[in-house]
Amino acid sequence: MPLKIALLPGDGIGPEVTDEAVRILKNVAEHSGKPFTFSTHPIGGAAIDVEGVGLPERTLEACLGAKAVLLGAVGHPKFDGRVPSERPEAALLALRQALGGFANLRPAICYPALARRTAFQPERVRGANLLIIRELLGGLYYGEPRGFEASGNTAFNTLIYSRHEIERVARVAFTRARERRRKVASIDKANVLETSRLWRAVVSDIAKEYPDVELEHVYVDTAAMRLATTPTSFDVMLCDNLFGDILSDQAASIAGSLGVLPSATLGGRVDLYEPVHGSAPDIAGKGWANPIGAIASAAMLLRFSAGMDQEANEIDHAIEDALAAGARTRDLAAPGERTLSTRDMGQAIEDALHDIRDRRHAYHAV
Ligand code: IPM
Ligand code: MN
Repeated sequence: MPLKIALLPGDGIGPEVTDEAVRILKNVAEHSGKPFTFSTHPIGGAAIDVEGVGLPERTLEACLGAKAVLLGAVGHPKFDGRVPSERPEAALLALRQALGGFANLRPAICYPALARRTAFQPERVRGANLLIIRELLGGLYYGEPRGFEASGNTAFNTLIYSRHEIERVARVAFTRARERRRKVASIDKANVLETSRLWRAVVSDIAKEYPDVELEHVYVDTAAMRLATTPTSFDVMLCDNLFGDILSDQAASIAGSLGVLPSATLGGRVDLYEPVHGSAPDIAGKGWANPIGAIASAAMLLRFSAGMDQEANEIDHAIEDALAAGARTRDLAAPGERTLSTRDMGQAIEDALHDIRDRRHAYHAV
């Protein structure tokens, strides 16, 4: 049975970066003999433009009928005047809810070749390798009631979490930590918020099921500071929806660019993969976008939705090799350095992937 992948390129640079991820997936399909089928559907501003709604029913149906969804980005400034529920972003939030994945995995590593491109002194960031696990279906993003009061001068949102929502995402964090350095930092604001007090208590309960994993509770403000000073002190960071959103952008500072960060959303009916970056409409269509976040998301898709660990690892290595060989999109380039277009970066990674496979075959032939 072919692996069904629904593609939602979306807005801005979404289509460009999705194309490069598909290039790599097609390459993998060809070399592994495992067939994939792709179908492409509108979402976000691109869907509002042609169908009047951000998440058309046919798009949602296609996603629910797929094994995995690969999304580019949503959002466009021309919808800035609209209320949140009618913006392109609402389509993404509705999609996440319908697919049901509650654990959003956002790894951030310092690629050795980019250590100098980060805001850090290279020796502070070298070796940084963290995994943010962001709760994706609860908290302030979805809490009711929400809205404006009639006056228009008061607005409110609801921060609400229940034990069950915290338990399930905490288990994902501890399980992942076991495959890493066995450390979980649970992020909260328990000195101020009731939801955080519950969060802390529930995470501590779940930690008892994982005595081999070290747990620390860190206030979100302290966590932001530590990310900016000693990022190597973190392994897995377990966050609620909003804290995870904020800290994952901040984690881009250890990778050198938001453009390289991938994500996977697991635990629901259908898995969802999307780069962490947004639609960057200011550079859309110019070939300036960095496709690494999308390509690394495709690698996560192979790992988690296709059971193709080796192929996923090889893609990760190909990204690292291409960077080590000097491949740079504009966001990664030092002043005066030669830059590659989105497509050329995709090609460079595909070439590196070929080299890795050739070396593997040569090794097996010996
Ligand atoms: C992200 C994005 C989204 C979010 C937006 C586009 C709704 O910032 O995936 O981090 O806030 O979750
Ligand atoms: Mn975000």
